[in-house]
Amino acid sequence: MMSKRLLAAQTTRKLIRTSSTLHSKAAPAVMSQPQIEMPECEHRPAAYNGPSYEQILETRKNHLTPNLVAHFKKPLVIHAGHMQWLYDHEGRRYLDMFGGIVTVSVGHCHPKVNQALSEQISKLWHTTNIYMHPKIHEYAERLAAKFPGNLKAVCFVNSGSEANDLAMLMARLHTGNQDILTFRNAYHGMSPYTMGLTAHSTWRYPLPGVNNGILHVMNPDPYQGIWGGSACRDSPVQTTRSCSCAPDNCQAGTNYYNELEQTFKYSLPRGKVAAMFAESIQGVGGTVQFPKGYLKRAAALVRANGGLFVADEVQTGFGRTGDHFWGFEAHDYTPDIVTMAKGIGNGFPLAAVVTTPEIAASLGMALHFNTYGGNPMASAVGMAVLDVIEEEQLQLNSLEVGNYFLKCLEELQQRFELIGDVRGKGLMIGVELVNDRETRAPLAAPHVLDIWETCKDMGVLFGRGGLNGNVLSFRPPLCLSYEDVEFALHILETVFVEHMNKRPRSWRTITTRNRGTH
Ligand SMILES: Cc1ncc(COP(=O)(O)O)c(C=O)c1O
Repeated sequence: MMSKRLLAAQTTRKLIRTSSTLHSKAAPAVMSQPQIEMPECEHRPAAYNGPSYEQILETRKNHLTPNLVAHFKKPLVIHAGHMQWLYDHEGRRYLDMFGGIVTVSVGHCHPKVNQALSEQISKLWHTTNIYMHPKIHEYAERLAAKFPGNLKAVCFVNSGSEANDLAMLMARLHTGNQDILTFRNAYHGMSPYTMGLTAHSTWRYPLPGVNNGILHVMNPDPYQGIWGGSACRDSPVQTTRSCSCAPDNCQAGTNYYNELEQTFKYSLPRGKVAAMFAESIQGVGGTVQFPKGYLKRAAALVRANGGLFVADEVQTGFGRTGDHFWGFEAHDYTPDIVTMAKGIGNGFPLAAVVTTPEIAASLGMALHFNTYGGNPMASAVGMAVLDVIEEEQLQLNSLEVGNYFLKCLEELQQRFELIGDVRGKGLMIGVELVNDRETRAPLAAPHVLDIWETCKDMGVLFGRGGLNGNVLSFRPPLCLSYEDVEFALHILETVFVEHMNKRPRSWRTITTRNRGTH
């Protein structure tokens, strides 16, 4: 049954559609569009009373590492947050469609998570695991219950890179093998060990040994890759490429799988692989979804060659993809190791590796220790996050609101030729902007940046992903509402119209290099 909120949202949407005649080639002015107000929010943050904008810029220049990335030409000073909202130092409110880079899962400063943390803070902060504080045990049990099969051993750490570091170590120790496979276009972290897994030139330092024992295989990308069709993705929106595959027999998936087999035949010692890592949907790489069935077959191939399959759920875990709690579940396989971070702690530095007791036992070859992993505060937060996801049915919200957003974006795609592709699931959504739909060449950097900045000025924040930074990345807190989606769509529509109106033909040929953020 359609909810009242969805009905209201759809009525507003119809209003916009009938009052504007936007189309792909020559977009009209926005004059006739009704203005959509930013959705109401009762929260009133305390006024900002910190250092001035200029002082902050000065300190940043003098005392923070110069490579620290800030979004936007005029970076924002954000001093308060509430659920899906952020507030800048001048009191402006923004709809946060990026969630602190996919991290704020249940909402900024969620009252229940705040309460759990403040109760723990007044009891006990930290002991390390040399003593048995109760919280880590309660939490490990709760988290392990979220996994199928024998994935019951939990190892807590503090960041996604640390989790993937540990997964690499476990896989190598457990199998006795060295080689690890990842996809080109993957992002698994920036520690010296995981930088090798990450396969974007923009995220790699020229250091010896980074690639030691790591192979990057062809990315099974149904939009930008060499194979792809109209039924490859597990998403409400498909690519515009055609195919004639039967629903359960994705030919592109088979082609990419055959290509993976070539790596095993030519580049690896027989039966001697340590692991393959895969995100369930590539996040930093620009919300890239793999053909249906591919990961399941890849996992079987890796196991047949003595290796383990590692699912990196740093972005896709905790209900974000809507239909499942973990992204790998939709790919119909059970990994040997799962790594998670970001959404697990709603912004608290918490991450984990979950695996089988047998694989975890491989760490027993030496002493292994992590000072903060699963400390009482982190465990209290992690448990509260699980409670909120359940109590507020956030996975379901992600499915319904996210898929509604996706379908509306698909409508926008039909009217704006700069939208080459819309993809994703639940509240993990990518919109790829192109210069030319036929060649799929990325929209040039200055134009993407202009669109991004204007949306920010109009009150909507999101990220950019992909090697060329031309994929708009939407990963809001899972409490996003239909009204928020309407607001975001209205802003996007307005900004796309503006872009099309000022777009000279010559822009189509620009292919300046751009750099994605996350
Ligand atoms: C899929 C994935 N894995 C691992 C990481 C690394 O996480 P962290 O930045 O917490 O080290 C990220 C960060 O964006 C990520 O997106």
